[in-house]
Amino acid sequence: MLDLKVVANERLHPNYCLLKLAGEEPLPEMRPGQFVQVRVEGSSATFLRRPISIHYVDKGRNELWLLIQLVGDGTRRLAEARVGDLLNLLLPLGNGFTLPEEGDMRELLLIGGGVGTAPLLYLGACLKAKGFRPTFLLGARSEGDLLQLAFFRQYGEVYLTTEDGSVGERGYVTNHSLLSEKHFDQIYTCGPKPMMVSVARYASAHGIACEASLENTMACGIGACLCCVEKLKDEHHVCVCTEGPVFNIEKLSWLN
Ligand SMILES: Cc1cc2nc3c(=O)[nH]c(=O)nc-3n(C[C@H](O)[C@H](O)[C@H](O)COP(=O)(O)OP(=O)(O)OC[C@H]3O[C@@H](n4cnc5c(N)ncnc54)[C@H](O)[C@@H]3O)c2cc1C
Ligand code: FES
Repeated sequence: MLDLKVVANERLHPNYCLLKLAGEEPLPEMRPGQFVQVRVEGSSATFLRRPISIHYVDKGRNELWLLIQLVGDGTRRLAEARVGDLLNLLLPLGNGFTLPEEGDMRELLLIGGGVGTAPLLYLGACLKAKGFRPTFLLGARSEGDLLQLAFFRQYGEVYLTTEDGSVGERGYVTNHSLLSEKHFDQIYTCGPKPMMVSVARYASAHGIACEASLENTMACGIGACLCCVEKLKDEHHVCVCTEGPVFNIEKLSWLN
């Protein structure tokens, strides 16, 4: 458990904020795909911590970035954090994405939808640090919901879809022409479940390895309350908070 100080709170969009948190001590090692549980102060409705993905780790500045979509009381309260406030976090939690070995010439595709794009920025940064140039395919409802694009472009090529056609190709990520034009060896995905199921079916049909980061509703974040369980292909139920949130899609029941 760590208290981290808010060093910036940027409202990137009326419904999204970027919190930059810094520690006095060096931050622990964090892997892309892992998440934190943030305590929300000052509201009886939000006594449970809220799970938020590791969006980016700026090792030089000893900062952890969280990209937060304001959907309810907890996230709206987090968005009110002021510079200098302390936030209490459990971190890092869960497993992370499996990074390929250096020198492996794989074509990597990172597919994100909505706030599910959040963990893909740090994943892209870690892949670039290992010598890869990943491709990002990011989808959202409208242009304003596609955030942090300048940062994504630092790590790879970025393709976009919007449901209203305001930027990129109109429609869903799984309809993007890139998928029929280029071959990929590995897909990493995070976003709304219907999107990830669709990505998983595409990957499976094309023999592409695929990992998905699940965002099941969580309470404790440490395997105690069982509210985040997911059924696997072999009928076993697992806690997403401890066994995930990242799973190889072949293990999930989505393709059955
Ligand atoms: C591993 C993990 C990583 C996540 N990463 C991020 C992130 O990087 N950025 C981010 O903004 N959000 C992320 N989320 C989702 C975030 O935890 C929820 O949006 C948040 O807990 C909602 O809290 P609230 O008090 O604002 O809303 P509540 O009042 O609790 O709920 C408001 C609405 O949001 C829905 N909701 C609640 N929890 C979830 C959830 N887990 N997924 C989808 N809908 C939910 C509720 O059904 C309700 O309709 C992540 C969730 C998980 C499990
Ligand atoms: S959130 Fe409690 S067991 Fe996963």
